[in-house]
Amino acid sequence: MYRTRTCGDLRLADEGLVVTLSGWVQKTRKMGGMTFVDIRDRYGITQLVFNQEVDASLCEKANKLGREYVIQVTGIVRERSSKNSNIPTGDIELIVSELNILNPAVTPPFTIEDETDGGDDLRMKFRYLDLRRNAVRKNLELRHKMTFEIRNYLDKQGFLEVETPILVNSTPEGARDFVVPSRMNPGQFYALPQSPQTLKQLLMVSGFDRYFQIVKCFRDEDLRADRQPEFTQIDCEMSFVEQEDIITTFEGMAKHLFKTIRGVEIKDAFQRMTWHDAMKLYGSDKPDLRFGMPFVELMDILKGYGFSVFDNAAYVGGICAEGAATYTRKQLDQLTEFVKRPQVGAKGLVYARVEADGSVKSSVDKFYTQETLQKMKEAFGAKPGDLILILSGDDIMKTRKQLCELRLEMGSQLGLRDKDKFACLWVIDFPLFEWSEEDQRFYAMHHPFTSPKPEDIPLLDSDPGAVRANAYDMVINGVEVGGGSIRIHDSQLQNKMFHLLGFTEESAQARFGFLMNAFKYGAPPHGGLAYGLDRWVSLFAGLDSIRDCIAFPKNNSGRDVMLDAPSIIDDSQLEELCIQVNVKE
Ligand code: AMO
Repeated sequence: MYRTRTCGDLRLADEGLVVTLSGWVQKTRKMGGMTFVDIRDRYGITQLVFNQEVDASLCEKANKLGREYVIQVTGIVRERSSKNSNIPTGDIELIVSELNILNPAVTPPFTIEDETDGGDDLRMKFRYLDLRRNAVRKNLELRHKMTFEIRNYLDKQGFLEVETPILVNSTPEGARDFVVPSRMNPGQFYALPQSPQTLKQLLMVSGFDRYFQIVKCFRDEDLRADRQPEFTQIDCEMSFVEQEDIITTFEGMAKHLFKTIRGVEIKDAFQRMTWHDAMKLYGSDKPDLRFGMPFVELMDILKGYGFSVFDNAAYVGGICAEGAATYTRKQLDQLTEFVKRPQVGAKGLVYARVEADGSVKSSVDKFYTQETLQKMKEAFGAKPGDLILILSGDDIMKTRKQLCELRLEMGSQLGLRDKDKFACLWVIDFPLFEWSEEDQRFYAMHHPFTSPKPEDIPLLDSDPGAVRANAYDMVINGVEVGGGSIRIHDSQLQNKMFHLLGFTEESAQARFGFLMNAFKYGAPPHGGLAYGLDRWVSLFAGLDSIRDCIAFPKNNSGRDVMLDAPSIIDDSQLEELCIQVNVKE
């Protein structure tokens, strides 16, 4: 038997027991005639003791152990004289009588410690070593617990887990597809699913009225901290439901996760906000509501006083940062630099302090009387000690997005974005379409299968941009953790959608004929949602990037540096696939 116990579970109560442990050498220390070795496995660390006086050759063997050697030891559990309260096994040590080297190891390229000396690239190249570190392993354990609880919850609600294929054709979620050539069908390609959207809708036609799948999805899009080219969805669909049923079911799942994983009982219903209000008040469809600081529009108050920047702007608006009037000139200059960065793109920043006597002192005082500034103060409900920050611009949406960045920055600077605090929100009533200036056409904001609100259907012909969708996103702490919609189940309405999205009848039939035809055989009213598992795990683990909760993630260029993928394939393979590669230097 390689082990009778693990390296994490021996306690004082086990004193006197003879046990066998197997694991990796974390560290070796020689102190006089004693050698101490920390042995580590997934469960923890145990201190091993070798005594020169008791068994010199065993002690010699221990002295030669290198970091990360795989060893097996047998010994007796003893109370430690100097205890280590930092680890659960810190009250005991193992007096070793047998040592077996199962496998020696070369020196690892970085230390396997919580605070490692390995940089990002190196750790990714040797990810299997990185995964030995507590901090990373813990995230995978959390991921496992979460998927377990998700299955638990959905099973109790009557959902069936059904697998859908990975080799499919293009699914319209708005990103580029990853494609796979087909040897048996020369010149033809599969696409990897961006989501199982159409397949889960077909399962509804088949009568599986509650489906879920914890499923890999693939999207060839630019990577960010919360985006990976392959990621995992908790994909769900239900039949004979309305928006409210879906919201209730998946809010229930969120609460179940908060309770079982974080130990937080949320009694109240999650806040809801229309997309329109989210954009107006926070400049984002995923506002971070751990703090307030909503936007106040100031066009009516500040336009028309000769300050041309505001006078010529389509949007003037600001936020009020409570207690931030103490910001120094330098801090305000840094904020100005922040909003002027290309990633934010504002031209400048106007600020106003509310003084102790209630008067307002602004950076544009020469254009405004105290009376006007007081009106502005009232619009914010600002108090002495507050700092008002104002942006303006000629594009309403763009300026709101800039103000959103400034709000988030102020939230961070003022310590209002605590990772242990959670603000859950449903954003509802998304527009059905999004207009692209560049392409001069509408795109589906969610996807083409999302249904319009029944009362807005007449607007489909007259004002498509104003049509609201039965679509909803769940947002936690400014992260979109999931989204879904009630689908169109009527093939005529679906055809109209395709038409509005610029598909000809033939092209819609060619791409989505399988779904349209299925709908003719009795499609139930249905809808669903997909949660992003990686985002949920990283939120609960307090991570800055979803990469850290994925065992083998891709880097920012979409590469797996450990596997060295993607890579060139043999000419013979290319030939077999009838593919010519034409890479320009
Ligand atoms: P959507 O495209 O909104 O909807 O995706 C659902 C959720 O998946 C997560 N997500 C991602 N996570 C990591 N990396 C990515 N590249 C990535 N892209 C998306 C997000 C997002 O909220 N078929 C629809 C769902 C439905 O309508 O039922 C869909 O895929 O958390």
